[in-house]
Amino acid sequence: MLKKLAFLIVLASMILTACQPAAVATEAPAVAEEPAATEAPAATEAPAKVWTYADMTVGFLQTGSEGGWRAANTASFKETAEQLGLTLKFYDSQNDLAKQVAGFQQFIQDPEVDVIIMSPLETTGWEQVLKDAQAAGKPVILSDRRIDGFEDLYVTFIGADFVEEGRKAGTEMCKLLEGSEKKNVWELVGNVGSAPAIDRGTGFRETAEKCGITVVNSQTANWSVVEGKQVTEAWLKESKDVQGIFGQNDEMAFGAIEALKEAGLVPAVDVKIISVDATAGAFQAMLDGTLNVTVECNPLLAPQVYEAALAALNGETLPKWIPSQESVFFMDDPNLKEIAAGRKY
Ligand code: AHR
Repeated sequence: MLKKLAFLIVLASMILTACQPAAVATEAPAVAEEPAATEAPAATEAPAKVWTYADMTVGFLQTGSEGGWRAANTASFKETAEQLGLTLKFYDSQNDLAKQVAGFQQFIQDPEVDVIIMSPLETTGWEQVLKDAQAAGKPVILSDRRIDGFEDLYVTFIGADFVEEGRKAGTEMCKLLEGSEKKNVWELVGNVGSAPAIDRGTGFRETAEKCGITVVNSQTANWSVVEGKQVTEAWLKESKDVQGIFGQNDEMAFGAIEALKEAGLVPAVDVKIISVDATAGAFQAMLDGTLNVTVECNPLLAPQVYEAALAALNGETLPKWIPSQESVFFMDDPNLKEIAAGRKY
């Protein structure tokens, strides 16, 4: 009887507990936690490669060999490549845009080329090859000359502010023609569509027109001595009413100087002459008294450009434009001879 009573008491307590809401959250009995799924150890990723110049093969697309500036620029790239121990694949575009684009595509396909450097002949026409280079994982650096837009498709542009070079030339032409009754100026333009031709013309007009200069004639002479002379001769046949000539590079100014002499005019005296580049030829012309001013455009860009190329391969982010530093040189500078003797190009 006692046993039956005990069973009934136990049974009743069990029934009451099951229905009773938990007045106090009873701690769930500790359940051994499922061991966390242990992640498979990540495959040990190889450390990112750190590039050195000795690893680097550069595909360099040069414009051509149109004058003293370009010769100095090419020498800078070849000599610096040797000094740094990098491999340089040099492509001469022969001043032909179609050839430069073809050379670009060639470097994209070339498995040995790690990075592409270009001095673009013109500011437009690069979108497809730049996209192809990006798809191929090959960084692109612009040297010497800019292009229009597509900043996301190249690492950086290392080169001059051509507009500022033009402004400097206009400012100096204003000084040379100060007090002149007339201020008619002729402009010899580089190859049409190139950044220096476009931008130097823009900058020159910004400052020259402020002092009353009128750009009476403006025509391409394609950076060359011969064409600079031919264009100036043709203008002189029409009129000799000119007070200044702006050559967008030294070579075209040298051609104009020859044409003025043959027409019986004294260059740098009867007609003031300003050019851009500051090559050895320009220093000689100033020492000869036939060129008034040359605005420097630095061709010795290779050290900065190669440094940027290596940084790009090592994943560094660079400013979209790294301007080169430049000066202005004058025929009347008493130290001109010493300055000329110290020049590298
Ligand atoms: O891009 C620089 C220009 O190219 C120089 O002023 C000119 O001489 C060369 O052709």
